[in-house]
Amino acid sequence: MLRGNDLGTMTTAAPALYPHQWSWDAAFVSVGLATVSVPRAVTELDTLLAAQWGTGMVPHIVFSADDEGYFPGPQRWGTQAVAAAPEGVRTSGICQPPVHAIAAWQLLETGRRLGGQDRRVAEEFCGRAWPRLLAWHRWLATARDPEGTGRVTIHHGWESGMDNSPRWDGPYARVEVGPDLPPYTRRDTQVVADASQRPSDREYDRYLWLIEEMRRVSYDDARVREAVSFAAEDVLLSAILALASDVLADLGEQTAQRAGEVAEMRALADRCRGGVAASIDPATGLARDRDLRTGEWLATETLAGFAPLLCGAGDHDQQRHLLALLDGPRWCGHPALAAAVPPSTSPESADFRPREYWRGPQWPVTSWLFSWAFAHHGWVDRAAALREESLRQLSDGRFGEYYEPFTGEALGSEHQSWTAAVTLDWLCWPES
Ligand code: SER
Repeated sequence: MLRGNDLGTMTTAAPALYPHQWSWDAAFVSVGLATVSVPRAVTELDTLLAAQWGTGMVPHIVFSADDEGYFPGPQRWGTQAVAAAPEGVRTSGICQPPVHAIAAWQLLETGRRLGGQDRRVAEEFCGRAWPRLLAWHRWLATARDPEGTGRVTIHHGWESGMDNSPRWDGPYARVEVGPDLPPYTRRDTQVVADASQRPSDREYDRYLWLIEEMRRVSYDDARVREAVSFAAEDVLLSAILALASDVLADLGEQTAQRAGEVAEMRALADRCRGGVAASIDPATGLARDRDLRTGEWLATETLAGFAPLLCGAGDHDQQRHLLALLDGPRWCGHPALAAAVPPSTSPESADFRPREYWRGPQWPVTSWLFSWAFAHHGWVDRAAALREESLRQLSDGRFGEYYEPFTGEALGSEHQSWTAAVTLDWLCWPES
């Protein structure tokens, strides 16, 4: 399936719905590709990193050369005129969660396990990618957390990767779409025939309006912070930055990078862990996002609440509480679930919709991320249990974008690259 989606130097996120390279998709895809070809996995990340902006931002979409079958495409983003945008490649103007250092780590592990040429290719890649990943993390640390709170701000729900999650309902409710929003036609609902599996038209208007606001200030980081109606601290992205900065520091030590820069990444990891811990809701124990336009904490019952488990934020009791919650009846232990893997929103939440994109379905890629983090922290049994349940969920071989939690039906896009990729990686884990 990944071969079928391969354009040569990039893998489309999905052939019909997402015919380009997406940033966090590319990272997960490269983890899967590494299990069959380390050099091809390296090419995937090289392609993405070659599209990095002068500011350090890694854009959320790198457009393929000739497929116009996605909206909003390069014209709508209007990034060609932006000085910081890369030359010779067309990109969007926003980012996605920084999972790339984790992918680089996996490539190195796989390369070393296989040895010979694979080892050389992986080591060379990590050496040349390190400065780029450093610049990427620095951009998040400065442009998106200028006050050093340890929580990274996003200016579009797409930057969280969880476009229409209830996490962003509050901030989006306060986005007023201007009368001069240029007209547009959605393409996603032409591909996914059942529109109820996708965000609504009202949500889409706001997505497009935020792009318009950013385009009008030429994607200048300082002006974006002032001008864009949506500004929210994303606790899951912040936890991923903490985890990835620690991983990047480890990679830096192994590839003999400058000690000061390695220490800077350790400090960033600590700062983000602190920011994530400070977001924990004393009433529920879940981590929270925050709407910067109102100052309000956003307490929703979504997978992002478990962000502290990704990066080791909070004290021992807080972590134990979260683990119990994750195993309990509001989450993986819900008696009606077809597979005991975390839904994007708790089935017990009033916001839960079992078929609607990030409002309820289970996403194998997020299960993989948690299982990887658990394994990395040495929680072997937890990681193995999540893997086993996920492989059971995936055994229909459909590789859907997401899954209905009660029936196990594959939903959304078909032939989703990252779903196939994480399956490949799980299959290569040693049996416990
Ligand atoms: N996930 C978005 C979409 O649905 C883009 O990032 O198009």
